[in-house]
Amino acid sequence: MSELNKITLQNAITEFEITANALTDVRKNFTEEIEKGLESPAETSLKMLPSFLTLPTGDESGTYLALDFGGTNVRVLKIKIWKRGNYKILKKTESPLKTAGKFDFTAATATGEELFDFIAKLIELTLEGSTDEIYLGHTFSFPSEQLDLANAKLISWTKEFKTKGVEGENVTELLTKALKKRNLDFVKPVAVINDTVATLISSAYIRENILIGSIYATGHNTCYFEPNYNGKEMIINLESGGFSKLEQNSYDKLLDEKSEKPGEQLLEKMVSGRYVGELYSLVLQKALNSEKLFDFSSLDLCNIAQNIDAAKIIEEKAEYAPKDGETALFVKLAANILTRSASLVAATFLGIYSHTKKLPAVAIDGSLYAKNPFLQDIIADNLKEADIKTFKADEGSALGAAIAAALAVK
Ligand code: BGC
Repeated sequence: MSELNKITLQNAITEFEITANALTDVRKNFTEEIEKGLESPAETSLKMLPSFLTLPTGDESGTYLALDFGGTNVRVLKIKIWKRGNYKILKKTESPLKTAGKFDFTAATATGEELFDFIAKLIELTLEGSTDEIYLGHTFSFPSEQLDLANAKLISWTKEFKTKGVEGENVTELLTKALKKRNLDFVKPVAVINDTVATLISSAYIRENILIGSIYATGHNTCYFEPNYNGKEMIINLESGGFSKLEQNSYDKLLDEKSEKPGEQLLEKMVSGRYVGELYSLVLQKALNSEKLFDFSSLDLCNIAQNIDAAKIIEEKAEYAPKDGETALFVKLAANILTRSASLVAATFLGIYSHTKKLPAVAIDGSLYAKNPFLQDIIADNLKEADIKTFKADEGSALGAAIAAALAVK
């Protein structure tokens, strides 16, 4: 069994600590980037993408298809919405995007055509034989340049997706082609939105004063309601995962170097579910001087941070049984990585508030957030002073897609 280098572990614990001053800087820099970005987005690390949508009125209604694509799974839902806050899921079909030994639509071996053919098949299953015309809203959770509400071009993959032939393409055209091939022309894609925008509009459909929508999951990103975008109201997708005015520690740099897109998505690589487990793995590999790659998930980290089966998880994943007193160090490291993650996310919300000066309520969706009261509390604590409230968005991505479709055909 390997020896633990305690100094390495202790140093890493310090490297992942985040001070109040550092958080204040993040907040300040974030505000500056937003304000600079409203003038000339190319000069900032925030993409500031207009969504072609403003807040819903709450009167939107009808039955729509919602396609939710952008994380570990792809989901198609038939949803009925009526009046503020009311919705019913009539049918739901879901599939992972990769299954070991069978298929992987996120890999470089897959093409956009194959991916969208797969999605069209799921759409067909959800329709259960119906051939009535139906409008479809698509939540596509990647940085995309919106051409209008119905059309968006993928700027670049994030979250380590590598599927060929999608970057630079209009994803609505790819979807429309795939629908045609399956004789599903009666399905009309009328809106494509980011998942943060879906979270914001679905929550604003239900309650008042929601002005920020955020995803804290495999990926991370935030959008907000901008009252003055070239004189108009507009929900703006910040693509805040790309925010780069940050102090990276040695492990952040290592992770970035080994990633699919070095230099990009620096905030996301410090906070999101796709990466926090990897940061932990990198520290343990170094501290245990291991050649082998470890595979700690964000869920493992949340458990370790709360000392739930911590020693057992370390032994399983790193093949090392912590000795007396060592478990506390492993717990502390996990807690610091997660505390830094949630505190950075909260600092960006504060940064938006410093810009808009209008007290927002924040809707947050995503598995990492929804499943971990531990992280919810850290975010809430960081926002307490400013009196900003947070809400968990239920069915945000799908409901948002349906509302966007309703807004498109209104
Ligand atoms: C993407 C965003 C998305 C976020 C959450 C990021 O990797 O760039 O567009 O909103 O993940 O899914």
